[in-house]
Amino acid sequence: MSPDHGALLYEGKAKRIYTTDHPEQVLVEYKNDATAFNAQKKAQLEDKGRLNCQISARLFELLEAQGIPCHYLGLAGDTWMLVQRVEVIPLEVVLRNIATGSLCRQTPIQEGTRIDPALLDLYYKDDDLGDPLLTDARVRLMGLVDDARLSEIEQLARRINGVLQPFFDGLELQLVDFKLELGLNKAGELLLADEISPDTCRLWDQRSRDANDRIMDKDRFRKDLGGVMQAYGEVLKRVHTACPNPRNCL
Ligand code: TMP
Ligand code: ASP
Repeated sequence: MSPDHGALLYEGKAKRIYTTDHPEQVLVEYKNDATAFNAQKKAQLEDKGRLNCQISARLFELLEAQGIPCHYLGLAGDTWMLVQRVEVIPLEVVLRNIATGSLCRQTPIQEGTRIDPALLDLYYKDDDLGDPLLTDARVRLMGLVDDARLSEIEQLARRINGVLQPFFDGLELQLVDFKLELGLNKAGELLLADEISPDTCRLWDQRSRDANDRIMDKDRFRKDLGGVMQAYGEVLKRVHTACPNPRNCL
C-alpha cells in the first residue's frame, strides 16, 4: 500500500522521491531494482524494497538515538519512509573497517586486512563519471564543500561507524565497509541521508567461516552467488531482534 503522495521529484536506481503536503518533507519509495557496476548489471529482486526500507528505518532510529542527525522521520508503509527534504551533497563517503572490494583491486592491500582506525574514502557522486575516487585537494578544488564542512562530514561518518560497528557485532555480523550520503536541510544542518542497507554496506556473517557463504549483502548479487534476498532477510531478522518496533509516521 502506498501512502498519499504528491509529484515524483526524483527517481534514482533504487528509490523514488515524492513531494508531500509539507514542503520540507518528502516520501521515499524503495524499489526492487538492483544494479551493480554503475548499472551495467540489472535485476528485479522481489521484496528488496521492503527489506532495505525496513532495515534502513531501524538503523536510522538506532543512529538517531545516539545523537546522529538523520533525514529519517518515520516509516510510511512497507517500502516507504518519510524523510526531511535535503540537498544531497554529491559525495559518497565510504568507511572501510576490513579491506576488500575496490580497495583490494586498486592497491596491494591484502583482502581481509583489518583497518583501525577505519579508512575514509570520498567518491564524487556522478554516474556519468563512474563515481571517481577523490582526494581532499580535489574536493577543495571542485568547491564541493569547504574545509569546515568536510571535517564535519568526516567526524559524522566516523561517529556513525562507531555506532554501527558494535551494533552489527552484537548481531554476529561484521561491518566490513559501507557508503553514506549526507545532505543539508533548509536550516543548513548536516544530516545523514539516503539509506543504510545491505545494498550500501558489506556485512559478513560471523556464524560462517566460508568466504562466500558469509556474504550477507549486495556482493551476493555482484558476484552471482545466489540467495540475495535470503541474506537480506536474515539481516532484517537480526536487526529486528534489536529494534522490533520502528516508528510509523502515518
Ligand atoms: P567498493 O569496495 O566497491 O568501493 O565499495 C565500498 C562500499 O560502498 C561497499 O560497502 C559497497 C558500497 N557501495 C555503494 O553503496 N554504492 C556504490 O556505488 C559502490 C561502488 C559501493
Ligand atoms: N550502486 C552502484 C550501481 O549501480 C554500484 C554498486 O553498488 O555496485 O550501479
